[in-house]
Amino acid sequence: MHSHCKITILVENCSLQKDLLAEHGLAVGIEYKSYKVLFDTGQTNILRHNAKHLDIDVEKTKAIVLSHGHYDHTGGLKEILTIAKRPQVYIHPNGFENKYSCSEDGLAREIGMPDLDEAAVRHLAGDIIWTKQPVEIHPGLWVTGEILREANLEDVGGSFFTDDKCLKKDTLPDDQALYFKSELGLVVILGCAHAGVVNTLNYIRKITGYEPIYCVMGGMHLINATEERIQFTINALYEMGIEKIGLAHCTGYEAVYRFKKKLLGRCFACPVGTMMEFRL
Ligand SMILES: [Fe+2]
Ligand SMILES: [Fe+2]
Repeated sequence: MHSHCKITILVENCSLQKDLLAEHGLAVGIEYKSYKVLFDTGQTNILRHNAKHLDIDVEKTKAIVLSHGHYDHTGGLKEILTIAKRPQVYIHPNGFENKYSCSEDGLAREIGMPDLDEAAVRHLAGDIIWTKQPVEIHPGLWVTGEILREANLEDVGGSFFTDDKCLKKDTLPDDQALYFKSELGLVVILGCAHAGVVNTLNYIRKITGYEPIYCVMGGMHLINATEERIQFTINALYEMGIEKIGLAHCTGYEAVYRFKKKLLGRCFACPVGTMMEFRL
């Protein structure tokens, strides 16, 4: 008997079904050999609503993995922590930092984790598991921890700071991705990919001993990317021979258009309610 991993998009920027709500954010439900994991929690509290309509029991979540500290991935955390039974929380220490986005005229907007700090999460969660290094969440299911950054073209994708004076650059060391090995190759789930999509995939290949990647899905944060960077990303994914490319959340229209132009048969959208199943 084969075991399976079932993936359901619970929060995303787009919804094609009238009962399912959309918002700028991401949350992915993962049932890995019946172990229930949540990768990110969306921006507000629509996660619970969507999960209910999709028959996903978020109350039974055993582990919550946060891709990074931004509000559109952590905004639903408080509610989930109060309805689930003390799930483990996997986060990089910098995920709890103050986070701001700064405009050209120096105006700071708070974009960190709303309503919660480390102490509050500790109070509601089972354990906080720090992910500076790769961590195995459940046998075979991993989170990368801090991602090695080697591709020069890939910056964090925005004007991010850790102070409201816009003086201390936020390099988003907390950015991380989830991965596991399926029968067809590695499956990678990205939050926002502030570390860079190519950096993330190269790092995962490195730490897995260069396993082939079958599927990558999630936010690629190419909204503000140059044409050169978008093309570099598309070429890299093509050369890696990735067969399924799920373009979601903050990938950006221009990047989606270019991806489809080059790799139409491999690309798919990830609106709320998208479900995929992988044999392990
Ligand atoms: Fe982000
Ligand atoms: Fe995001």
